[in-house]
Amino acid sequence: MKYVILTHGGVTAPQSGAESCARAADDALGALDAGGEALAAAIAATARLEDDPRLNAGTGSNLRLDGRTIEMDAAVMASDGRFGAVACIERVKNPVLVAAKVLETPHLLLAGAGATAFARRLGFADHDPATDEARERHARAVAALRDGAGDDQTDDAARFHALTAKRFWNFDAEPIECDTVGAVVRDVHGRFAAAASTGGSSYSLRGRVGDVPLTGAGIYAGPHGAVAATGVGEEIARRLLARAIYDWLADGVAPARAAQRGVAMFPEVVAIGVLVVGRSGQAIASNRNMPSAQLVG
Ligand code: GLY
Repeated sequence: MKYVILTHGGVTAPQSGAESCARAADDALGALDAGGEALAAAIAATARLEDDPRLNAGTGSNLRLDGRTIEMDAAVMASDGRFGAVACIERVKNPVLVAAKVLETPHLLLAGAGATAFARRLGFADHDPATDEARERHARAVAALRDGAGDDQTDDAARFHALTAKRFWNFDAEPIECDTVGAVVRDVHGRFAAAASTGGSSYSLRGRVGDVPLTGAGIYAGPHGAVAATGVGEEIARRLLARAIYDWLADGVAPARAAQRGVAMFPEVVAIGVLVVGRSGQAIASNRNMPSAQLVG
């Protein structure tokens, strides 16, 4: 069986991220060449993407609405059912590597301060993921919140303006912009894996958790394939997108058709992208430009 590696940098990420997607796919291939299984390859690719400050994961993650807080989600899953995730983890360089360690525990998901303490206990160093680019994105998001209507971003802004009315505000400071990186892999032994990582949405209250660490929402892997999604987490989680696409693969739907059906579940206003690999092939689909890469051999 051939191997398949698919990577993405986020459905609304700059196309310049495609270069990192290609490097991430090379890292995944390196992990397979070193004898690693599909899971190790998906993790290696996602860690590489987290290190690109242009992408909303790891270094360069979105700031929450207060302009200071960064809370990150990440998850990994293998086709034998192993799953590990972190939610709202702070001040680590590679949340996906911490999620991979959660997979070795009896738990599925560690959240918040507990997740960060778990990372420290395992030797993950303190790391400030904030970048000037992320601060600029935050400034634009806040401006959109203040100004009201316009493009896609301001549709989100209008929605979150209502959500973040004073009565919901849970930051210490006074109030004043969603993407994910990820990978799916099939190795030559037919094992599948998916991994994803995100800084979440800028339009977020403290403690907000998106689709990525929720099993079957942002990622899913099983004997029939692997799926990784990117886009607005609340919309993805409501539809259990990754599991829905996986179930179509299990029913014999071709990966390309399953990927298109997955994207078609969402109204055009919601930015959505998916990576899908099955036994019979692979597909990348999105309703916006999405930097991505593919290696098959
Ligand atoms: N899809 C990333 C998030 O909404 O958190």
